[in-house]
Amino acid sequence: MGLLDGRVAIVTGAGHGIGRGHALELAAQGATVVVNDLGGALDGEGRGRDADLTVALITERGGTAVANYGDVADMDDAAALIDQAVNDLGRLDIVVNNAGIARDATVWNMTEQDWDAVLRVHLKGTFAPTHHAVRYWRGQHKAGASVRTGRIINTTSGAGLTGNFGQANYTAAKAGIAAFTQTVSLEVFSMGVTCNCIGPAGATRMAASIPGAGIEAREPDEFTEWNRMDPSNSSPVVAWLASDEAAHVTGQVLRAVGDEIVHMQPWSNGATISAGERRWDPTKLTALVNADIFGCRAPGLRY
Ligand SMILES: NC(=O)c1ccc[n+]([C@@H]2O[C@H](COP(=O)([O-])OP(=O)(O)OC[C@H]3O[C@@H](n4cnc5c(N)ncnc54)[C@H](O)[C@@H]3O)[C@@H](O)[C@H]2O)c1
Repeated sequence: MGLLDGRVAIVTGAGHGIGRGHALELAAQGATVVVNDLGGALDGEGRGRDADLTVALITERGGTAVANYGDVADMDDAAALIDQAVNDLGRLDIVVNNAGIARDATVWNMTEQDWDAVLRVHLKGTFAPTHHAVRYWRGQHKAGASVRTGRIINTTSGAGLTGNFGQANYTAAKAGIAAFTQTVSLEVFSMGVTCNCIGPAGATRMAASIPGAGIEAREPDEFTEWNRMDPSNSSPVVAWLASDEAAHVTGQVLRAVGDEIVHMQPWSNGATISAGERRWDPTKLTALVNADIFGCRAPGLRY
């Protein structure tokens, strides 16, 4: 008995890396998996049939999977991805939005193309499958069917939650995904569908591309024993979030790195000062705004 027996799951960007780990874990827990992957290079260029590699691994291990080669950020491809699960496999329970690319550069060197491509794949590539999946679940719900097995699991990054030098496009997209998760969780709540976000890690080609990181890219199936850099370390958390066990968990961001799960806290109100029912006088603010009140780290600010 697996946690996900009888469920149908989509994992985007599951031809390699972290997504491959999720697809293997969901299948091991009994789900039938649609393995989506565009099969491009790290910067998003090119196309291939890399989804087949993960489908073959799942099949070898006794699971059930089918491939999808669509672009998650294309609205028509995303619609076809949802239709593939519903029409060919009879239902849709789980959408894991994981696909991603990287085009790192400092903000002064970042081109418009670098910005647009990364925002497109991560942010629109999370919106598009979510949009079509929720439309499907909403239709089912309105027709009187239960959609309480519905799960959306998005992918942020530690870098997106705290900022990272040289990744303005990537961190903006990843922070946006965390905010998107909070809003969608509110919108799908009444149907019993949950929407959460994980922050994974692992020695994938994306991690190996970080200058000076000294990481060698390895696929999750190349690890035979526990390793902190195994890209599938977060996959058990994804399987749990996808299951009935986590039906009460929604709108949350969990970083699952190595053997730890960190419950991330959202933006929340910090110290507050009031002008006392009048407009602020900018010449008086320096005396009020100091490190003790706002913990400012901005260069040039006088404390
Ligand atoms: N590796 C890490 O340490 C780390 C840390 C935090 C977050 N993440 C996130 O985890 C996710 C997976 O990254 P990874 O490290 O496994 O990288 P990866 O490059 O190994 O895998 C990403 C996969 O997404 C696919 N993909 C890219 N664009 C696509 C598109 N438009 N449509 C469909 N598939 C597409 C690629 O072909 C690739 O197989 C990403 O969202 C990444 O931002 C990774």
